[in-house]
Amino acid sequence: MDLTRIRNEAQEMAGAATEMRRYLHAHPELSWGEVETSRFIARRLKEIGFQDIRVGVDGKAVGVVADLAGKEAGPCVALRADIDALNLVEENDVPYKSKCGAMHACGHDAHITMLLGAARILYSMKDELPGSVRFIFQPAEEHGMHSGAATMIEEGVLDGVGALAGMHLWSHVPSGRVQWRSGPVMASADGWNVKFRGRGGHGAMPHKTIDPVVAAANFILALQTIVSREVNPLETAVLSVGKLVSGEVINIIPEVAEMIGNIRTFSVEVRDQMEESFRRIADGIAATYRCNLETQYTRIYPYPVVNDRVLSELLRDTAIALVGKADVEESPMLMTSEDFSFYQTKVRSVFFFLGSGDEAKGTTAAHHSSRFDVDDDVLPRGIALMSSFACAALSGMSEGTL
Ligand code: NI
Repeated sequence: MDLTRIRNEAQEMAGAATEMRRYLHAHPELSWGEVETSRFIARRLKEIGFQDIRVGVDGKAVGVVADLAGKEAGPCVALRADIDALNLVEENDVPYKSKCGAMHACGHDAHITMLLGAARILYSMKDELPGSVRFIFQPAEEHGMHSGAATMIEEGVLDGVGALAGMHLWSHVPSGRVQWRSGPVMASADGWNVKFRGRGGHGAMPHKTIDPVVAAANFILALQTIVSREVNPLETAVLSVGKLVSGEVINIIPEVAEMIGNIRTFSVEVRDQMEESFRRIADGIAATYRCNLETQYTRIYPYPVVNDRVLSELLRDTAIALVGKADVEESPMLMTSEDFSFYQTKVRSVFFFLGSGDEAKGTTAAHHSSRFDVDDDVLPRGIALMSSFACAALSGMSEGTL
Protein backbone atom coordinates (compact mmCIF):
# COMPACT_ATOMS: atom_id res chain seq x y z
CA MET A 1 0.00 0.00 0.00
CA ASP A 2 1.36 3.36 -1.02
CA LEU A 3 0.55 5.63 1.91
CA THR A 4 2.29 8.62 0.39
CA ARG A 5 0.07 8.37 -2.65
CA ILE A 6 -3.06 8.06 -0.51
CA ARG A 7 -1.99 10.98 1.67
CA ASN A 8 -1.26 13.16 -1.35
CA GLU A 9 -4.45 12.29 -3.19
CA ALA A 10 -6.47 13.05 -0.07
CA GLN A 11 -4.67 16.35 0.42
CA GLU A 12 -5.37 17.33 -3.18
CA MET A 13 -9.06 16.95 -2.42
CA ALA A 14 -8.97 19.41 0.49
CA GLY A 15 -10.70 22.28 -1.33
CA ALA A 16 -13.37 20.13 -2.95
CA ALA A 17 -13.99 18.29 0.31
CA THR A 18 -14.51 21.52 2.24
CA GLU A 19 -16.91 22.75 -0.41
CA MET A 20 -18.85 19.48 -0.37
CA ARG A 21 -19.02 19.33 3.41
CA ARG A 22 -20.35 22.88 3.57
CA TYR A 23 -22.91 22.21 0.86
CA LEU A 24 -24.17 19.18 2.80
CA HIS A 25 -24.13 21.22 5.99
CA ALA A 26 -26.39 23.83 4.41
CA HIS A 27 -28.83 21.10 3.27
CA PRO A 28 -29.43 18.81 6.25
CA GLU A 29 -32.17 16.18 6.34
CA LEU A 30 -33.60 14.34 9.34
CA SER A 31 -33.48 10.58 9.92
CA TRP A 32 -35.37 8.60 7.25
CA GLY A 33 -35.84 11.77 5.22
CA GLU A 34 -32.37 11.90 3.66
CA VAL A 35 -33.71 11.74 0.10
CA GLU A 36 -31.77 14.63 -1.43
CA THR A 37 -28.66 13.66 0.52
CA SER A 38 -28.87 10.12 -0.84
CA ARG A 39 -29.43 11.42 -4.36
CA PHE A 40 -26.36 13.64 -3.95
CA ILE A 41 -24.24 10.70 -2.76
CA ALA A 42 -25.38 8.42 -5.60
CA ARG A 43 -24.69 11.13 -8.16
CA ARG A 44 -21.17 11.68 -6.83
CA LEU A 45 -20.45 7.94 -6.84
CA LYS A 46 -21.62 7.73 -10.43
CA GLU A 47 -19.36 10.62 -11.41
CA ILE A 48 -16.41 8.76 -9.89
CA GLY A 49 -17.26 5.78 -12.06
CA PHE A 50 -19.14 3.43 -9.73
CA GLN A 51 -21.67 1.23 -11.46
CA ASP A 52 -22.97 -0.89 -8.64
CA ILE A 53 -24.95 1.70 -6.64
CA ARG A 54 -28.09 0.80 -4.68
CA VAL A 55 -30.32 3.50 -3.22
CA GLY A 56 -33.09 2.79 -0.74
CA VAL A 57 -33.61 1.33 2.71
CA ASP A 58 -36.88 0.27 4.31
CA GLY A 59 -38.79 1.10 1.14
CA LYS A 60 -37.67 4.75 1.27
CA ALA A 61 -35.36 6.54 -1.16
CA VAL A 62 -32.73 6.99 1.54
CA GLY A 63 -29.38 5.32 2.15
CA VAL A 64 -26.83 4.32 -0.46
CA VAL A 65 -24.67 1.22 -0.84
CA ALA A 66 -21.97 0.97 -3.50
CA ASP A 67 -19.63 -1.89 -4.27
CA LEU A 68 -16.18 -1.58 -5.76
CA ALA A 69 -14.72 -4.75 -7.24
CA GLY A 70 -10.95 -5.04 -7.09
CA LYS A 71 -8.59 -6.88 -9.39
CA GLU A 72 -9.62 -10.23 -7.98
CA ALA A 73 -12.60 -11.73 -6.22
CA GLY A 74 -11.23 -11.67 -2.72
CA PRO A 75 -12.55 -10.63 0.68
CA CYS A 76 -14.90 -7.68 1.14
CA VAL A 77 -14.20 -4.79 3.49
CA ALA A 78 -16.98 -2.32 4.22
CA LEU A 79 -16.72 1.33 5.25
CA ARG A 80 -19.70 3.05 6.82
CA ALA A 81 -20.76 6.69 7.14
CA ASP A 82 -23.99 7.93 8.70
CA ILE A 83 -25.83 10.66 6.80
CA ASP A 84 -28.63 12.16 8.91
CA ALA A 85 -28.96 15.49 10.71
CA LEU A 86 -30.62 16.56 13.97
CA ASN A 87 -33.74 18.47 14.85
CA LEU A 88 -31.96 21.66 15.94
CA VAL A 89 -31.89 25.31 14.91
CA GLU A 90 -28.32 26.25 14.05
CA GLU A 91 -26.82 29.18 15.93
CA ASN A 92 -23.52 29.44 14.06
CA ASP A 93 -23.11 32.55 11.99
CA VAL A 94 -21.40 31.00 8.96
CA PRO A 95 -22.05 31.30 5.22
CA TYR A 96 -23.06 27.63 5.06
CA LYS A 97 -25.48 27.88 7.96
CA SER A 98 -28.52 25.63 7.77
CA LYS A 99 -31.74 27.56 7.35
CA CYS A 100 -34.29 24.77 7.50
CA GLY A 101 -34.59 24.04 11.22
CA ALA A 102 -32.54 20.85 10.97
CA MET A 103 -28.80 20.80 11.50
CA HIS A 104 -25.79 18.62 10.88
CA ALA A 105 -24.75 19.04 14.51
CA CYS A 106 -22.90 15.74 14.85
CA GLY A 107 -20.57 15.92 11.85
CA HIS A 108 -22.37 13.44 9.63
CA ASP A 109 -21.97 15.95 6.77
CA ALA A 110 -18.23 15.41 7.19
CA HIS A 111 -18.67 11.64 7.41
CA ILE A 112 -20.41 11.61 4.02
CA THR A 113 -17.68 13.82 2.54
CA MET A 114 -14.86 11.68 3.87
CA LEU A 115 -16.39 8.42 2.70
CA LEU A 116 -16.99 9.87 -0.77
CA GLY A 117 -13.35 10.98 -0.75
CA ALA A 118 -12.23 7.48 0.19
CA ALA A 119 -14.47 6.09 -2.56
CA ARG A 120 -12.66 8.28 -5.07
CA ILE A 121 -9.19 7.22 -3.92
CA LEU A 122 -10.02 3.52 -3.70
CA TYR A 123 -11.68 3.65 -7.10
CA SER A 124 -8.44 5.00 -8.55
CA MET A 125 -6.66 2.01 -6.98
CA LYS A 126 -9.18 -0.65 -7.91
CA ASP A 127 -6.87 -2.55 -10.22
CA GLU A 128 -4.54 -3.11 -7.29
CA LEU A 129 -7.09 -4.16 -4.65
CA PRO A 130 -7.05 -7.85 -3.68
CA GLY A 131 -10.78 -7.88 -2.99
CA SER A 132 -13.77 -5.57 -2.90
CA VAL A 133 -14.87 -2.56 -0.88
CA ARG A 134 -18.46 -1.80 0.09
CA PHE A 135 -19.37 1.80 0.85
CA ILE A 136 -22.31 2.12 3.23
CA PHE A 137 -24.04 5.49 3.51
CA GLN A 138 -26.46 4.77 6.31
CA PRO A 139 -29.62 6.76 7.08
CA ALA A 140 -31.14 7.33 10.51
CA GLU A 141 -28.28 6.91 12.95
CA GLU A 142 -29.81 9.56 15.20
CA HIS A 143 -33.36 8.22 15.16
CA GLY A 144 -32.95 6.04 18.21
CA MET A 145 -36.07 3.94 17.89
CA HIS A 146 -35.81 3.04 14.20
CA SER A 147 -32.15 2.42 13.54
CA GLY A 148 -30.83 2.75 10.02
CA ALA A 149 -28.06 0.26 10.80
CA ALA A 150 -30.45 -2.41 12.08
CA THR A 151 -32.69 -1.97 9.04
CA MET A 152 -29.83 -2.13 6.56
CA ILE A 153 -28.56 -5.32 8.20
CA GLU A 154 -32.01 -6.90 7.86
CA GLU A 155 -31.87 -6.00 4.19
CA GLY A 156 -28.53 -7.74 3.74
CA VAL A 157 -25.99 -4.91 3.73
CA LEU A 158 -23.42 -7.10 5.49
CA ASP A 159 -23.82 -10.11 3.19
CA GLY A 160 -20.32 -11.15 2.14
CA VAL A 161 -18.61 -8.52 4.31
CA GLY A 162 -15.59 -9.79 6.25
CA ALA A 163 -14.61 -6.62 8.11
CA LEU A 164 -16.15 -3.19 8.70
CA ALA A 165 -14.87 0.20 9.81
CA GLY A 166 -16.68 3.34 10.90
CA MET A 167 -15.22 6.69 11.84
CA HIS A 168 -16.68 9.57 13.81
CA LEU A 169 -15.42 13.12 13.99
CA TRP A 170 -14.94 14.17 17.60
CA SER A 171 -14.91 17.83 18.60
CA HIS A 172 -13.69 17.02 22.12
CA VAL A 173 -10.36 15.84 20.70
CA PRO A 174 -7.78 18.18 19.10
CA SER A 175 -8.03 18.44 15.33
CA GLY A 176 -6.33 15.67 13.42
CA ARG A 177 -5.73 13.35 16.36
CA VAL A 178 -6.84 9.75 15.83
CA GLN A 179 -8.35 7.87 18.76
CA TRP A 180 -8.69 4.11 18.69
CA ARG A 181 -9.69 1.55 21.28
CA SER A 182 -9.95 -2.21 21.39
CA GLY A 183 -12.96 -3.73 23.20
CA PRO A 184 -15.89 -1.68 24.54
CA VAL A 185 -15.75 1.99 23.54
CA MET A 186 -19.33 3.30 23.52
CA ALA A 187 -22.31 2.34 25.65
CA SER A 188 -25.65 0.68 25.06
CA ALA A 189 -28.63 2.97 25.66
CA ASP A 190 -32.04 2.10 27.07
CA GLY A 191 -34.87 4.52 27.82
CA TRP A 192 -37.65 4.22 30.39
CA ASN A 193 -40.85 5.87 31.44
CA VAL A 194 -42.51 5.22 34.80
CA LYS A 195 -45.84 6.48 36.12
CA PHE A 196 -46.89 6.09 39.75
CA ARG A 197 -50.64 6.56 39.92
CA GLY A 198 -52.10 7.25 43.36
CA ARG A 199 -55.25 9.03 44.48
CA GLY A 200 -55.25 12.82 44.48
CA GLY A 201 -56.82 14.95 47.15
CA HIS A 202 -56.47 17.84 49.58
CA GLY A 203 -52.94 18.58 50.75
CA ALA A 204 -54.28 18.98 54.27
CA MET A 205 -55.71 15.45 54.33
CA PRO A 206 -52.98 13.10 53.11
CA HIS A 207 -54.65 10.15 54.83
CA LYS A 208 -57.49 10.39 52.31
CA THR A 209 -55.08 10.21 49.39
CA ILE A 210 -52.40 7.95 47.94
CA ASP A 211 -49.46 10.22 47.30
CA PRO A 212 -47.48 9.38 44.13
CA VAL A 213 -44.92 12.13 44.89
CA VAL A 214 -43.62 10.24 47.90
CA ALA A 215 -43.42 7.05 45.83
CA ALA A 216 -41.50 8.91 43.10
CA ALA A 217 -39.10 10.44 45.60
CA ASN A 218 -38.32 7.06 47.13
CA PHE A 219 -38.03 5.49 43.71
CA ILE A 220 -35.37 7.98 42.64
CA LEU A 221 -33.34 7.29 45.78
CA ALA A 222 -33.75 3.53 45.49
CA LEU A 223 -32.56 3.64 41.86
CA GLN A 224 -29.22 4.96 43.09
CA THR A 225 -28.52 1.60 44.71
CA ILE A 226 -28.57 -0.30 41.40
CA VAL A 227 -25.18 0.96 40.23
CA SER A 228 -23.73 1.40 43.71
CA ARG A 229 -24.93 -1.87 45.33
CA GLU A 230 -25.97 -4.36 42.66
CA VAL A 231 -23.66 -3.95 39.66
CA ASN A 232 -20.15 -5.34 40.00
CA PRO A 233 -17.95 -2.34 40.91
CA LEU A 234 -15.50 -3.36 38.19
CA GLU A 235 -18.22 -2.88 35.59
CA THR A 236 -19.52 0.47 34.36
CA ALA A 237 -23.11 1.64 34.16
CA VAL A 238 -25.14 4.80 34.52
CA LEU A 239 -28.78 5.41 35.31
CA SER A 240 -30.14 8.95 35.03
CA VAL A 241 -33.56 10.46 35.64
CA GLY A 242 -34.18 12.94 32.84
CA LYS A 243 -37.57 14.30 33.83
CA LEU A 244 -39.91 14.27 36.82
CA VAL A 245 -43.39 15.74 36.57
CA SER A 246 -46.10 15.81 39.20
CA GLY A 247 -48.63 18.21 40.65
CA GLU A 248 -49.29 21.89 40.15
CA VAL A 249 -50.33 23.74 43.28
CA ILE A 250 -49.32 23.95 46.94
CA ASN A 251 -52.34 22.36 48.53
CA ILE A 252 -53.26 19.47 46.26
CA ILE A 253 -51.75 16.02 46.37
CA PRO A 254 -51.56 15.01 42.71
CA GLU A 255 -52.87 11.85 41.11
CA VAL A 256 -49.79 10.91 39.09
CA ALA A 257 -46.02 11.27 39.21
CA GLU A 258 -44.23 10.56 35.96
CA MET A 259 -40.55 10.12 35.28
CA ILE A 260 -38.39 9.36 32.29
CA GLY A 261 -34.72 8.50 32.13
CA ASN A 262 -32.04 6.34 30.62
CA ILE A 263 -29.67 3.51 31.37
CA ARG A 264 -26.30 2.94 29.72
CA THR A 265 -23.87 0.07 30.02
CA PHE A 266 -20.84 -1.48 28.31
CA SER A 267 -21.98 -5.08 28.35
CA VAL A 268 -25.11 -6.99 27.46
CA GLU A 269 -25.02 -8.83 30.81
CA VAL A 270 -24.93 -5.61 32.83
CA ARG A 271 -27.64 -4.13 30.60
CA ASP A 272 -29.93 -7.08 31.38
CA GLN A 273 -29.11 -6.89 35.08
CA MET A 274 -29.91 -3.16 35.14
CA GLU A 275 -33.29 -3.69 33.53
CA GLU A 276 -34.18 -6.49 35.93
CA SER A 277 -33.18 -4.38 38.96
CA PHE A 278 -35.00 -1.35 37.62
CA ARG A 279 -38.26 -3.25 37.15
CA ARG A 280 -38.03 -4.97 40.53
CA ILE A 281 -37.48 -1.67 42.37
CA ALA A 282 -40.34 0.02 40.49
CA ASP A 283 -42.68 -2.85 41.39
CA GLY A 284 -41.54 -2.82 45.01
CA ILE A 285 -41.92 0.94 45.47
CA ALA A 286 -45.36 0.92 43.87
CA ALA A 287 -46.49 -1.85 46.21
CA THR A 288 -44.96 -0.19 49.27
CA TYR A 289 -46.69 3.14 48.60
CA ARG A 290 -49.98 1.65 47.29
CA CYS A 291 -49.62 3.15 43.81
CA ASN A 292 -50.50 1.64 40.48
CA LEU A 293 -47.50 1.36 38.23
CA GLU A 294 -47.11 1.83 34.51
CA THR A 295 -43.67 1.11 33.10
CA GLN A 296 -42.29 1.37 29.61
CA TYR A 297 -38.79 0.13 29.04
CA THR A 298 -37.20 0.54 25.62
CA ARG A 299 -33.98 -0.82 24.24
CA ILE A 300 -32.87 2.13 22.12
CA TYR A 301 -29.36 1.05 21.16
CA PRO A 302 -29.32 -2.34 22.83
CA TYR A 303 -25.64 -3.12 22.26
CA PRO A 304 -22.47 -1.33 23.28
CA VAL A 305 -19.89 -0.50 20.61
CA VAL A 306 -17.25 -3.20 21.08
CA ASN A 307 -14.24 -3.20 18.79
CA ASP A 308 -12.50 -6.29 17.48
CA ARG A 309 -8.97 -6.44 18.89
CA VAL A 310 -7.15 -7.41 15.70
CA LEU A 311 -8.92 -4.78 13.58
CA SER A 312 -8.37 -2.14 16.29
CA GLU A 313 -4.64 -2.82 16.25
CA LEU A 314 -4.60 -2.75 12.47
CA LEU A 315 -6.37 0.61 12.56
CA ARG A 316 -3.91 1.92 15.15
CA ASP A 317 -0.88 0.76 13.15
CA THR A 318 -2.26 2.10 9.89
CA ALA A 319 -3.00 5.46 11.54
CA ILE A 320 0.49 5.66 13.01
CA ALA A 321 2.02 4.91 9.60
CA LEU A 322 -0.18 7.55 8.01
CA VAL A 323 -0.10 10.44 10.49
CA GLY A 324 2.69 9.64 12.94
CA LYS A 325 2.72 8.35 16.49
CA ALA A 326 2.19 11.74 18.15
CA ASP A 327 -1.27 12.05 16.63
CA VAL A 328 -2.56 8.59 17.54
CA GLU A 329 -3.78 7.69 21.02
CA GLU A 330 -6.08 5.34 22.85
CA SER A 331 -9.63 6.59 23.23
CA PRO A 332 -11.33 6.69 26.61
CA MET A 333 -14.58 4.74 26.93
CA LEU A 334 -17.55 6.98 26.16
CA MET A 335 -21.02 6.75 27.67
CA THR A 336 -22.61 7.99 24.44
CA SER A 337 -24.08 5.46 22.01
CA GLU A 338 -23.98 4.62 18.32
CA ASP A 339 -26.05 2.31 16.17
CA PHE A 340 -22.79 1.09 14.63
CA SER A 341 -23.11 -1.45 17.45
CA PHE A 342 -25.79 -3.31 15.46
CA TYR A 343 -23.22 -4.14 12.76
CA GLN A 344 -20.82 -5.33 15.41
CA THR A 345 -23.12 -8.12 16.49
CA LYS A 346 -22.82 -9.52 12.94
CA VAL A 347 -19.32 -8.79 11.64
CA ARG A 348 -15.95 -8.00 13.13
CA SER A 349 -15.45 -4.32 13.02
CA VAL A 350 -13.80 -1.23 14.40
CA PHE A 351 -15.21 2.20 15.22
CA PHE A 352 -12.77 5.04 15.82
CA PHE A 353 -12.56 8.80 16.22
CA LEU A 354 -10.90 11.64 14.38
CA GLY A 355 -10.45 14.83 16.40
CA SER A 356 -11.92 18.03 14.94
CA GLY A 357 -11.69 20.39 17.90
CA ASP A 358 -9.76 23.60 17.27
CA GLU A 359 -10.28 26.48 19.69
CA ALA A 360 -9.07 29.12 17.22
CA LYS A 361 -11.43 27.89 14.51
CA GLY A 362 -14.35 27.64 16.93
CA THR A 363 -14.92 23.92 16.44
CA THR A 364 -14.88 22.67 20.01
CA ALA A 365 -18.64 22.89 20.74
CA ALA A 366 -20.21 19.63 21.84
CA HIS A 367 -21.81 17.28 19.35
CA HIS A 368 -25.58 17.77 19.19
CA SER A 369 -25.23 21.42 20.21
CA SER A 370 -26.58 24.26 18.06
CA ARG A 371 -23.05 25.70 17.90
CA PHE A 372 -21.33 22.53 16.71
CA ASP A 373 -19.08 23.07 13.69
CA VAL A 374 -16.48 21.06 11.82
CA ASP A 375 -12.81 21.85 11.27
CA ASP A 376 -12.75 21.18 7.53
CA ASP A 377 -8.97 20.94 7.54
CA VAL A 378 -9.23 17.43 9.01
CA LEU A 379 -11.23 16.08 6.05
CA PRO A 380 -8.18 14.96 4.01
CA ARG A 381 -6.86 13.05 7.00
CA GLY A 382 -10.20 11.28 7.44
CA ILE A 383 -10.29 10.41 3.75
CA ALA A 384 -6.77 9.01 3.91
CA LEU A 385 -7.51 7.03 7.08
CA MET A 386 -10.56 5.31 5.65
CA SER A 387 -8.80 4.57 2.36
CA SER A 388 -5.66 3.18 3.95
CA PHE A 389 -7.57 1.10 6.48
CA ALA A 390 -9.57 -0.54 3.68
CA CYS A 391 -6.34 -1.35 1.81
CA ALA A 392 -4.65 -2.71 4.93
CA ALA A 393 -7.64 -4.85 5.88
CA LEU A 394 -8.00 -6.23 2.36
CA SER A 395 -4.30 -7.12 2.23
CA GLY A 396 -4.41 -8.76 5.64
CA MET A 397 -7.51 -10.76 4.81
CA SER A 398 -6.32 -11.90 1.41
CA GLU A 399 -2.95 -12.93 2.86
CA GLY A 400 -4.66 -14.74 5.73
CA THR A 401 -3.04 -12.64 8.48
CA LEU A 402 -6.31 -11.10 9.62
NI1 NI B 1 -22.94 11.15 15.25
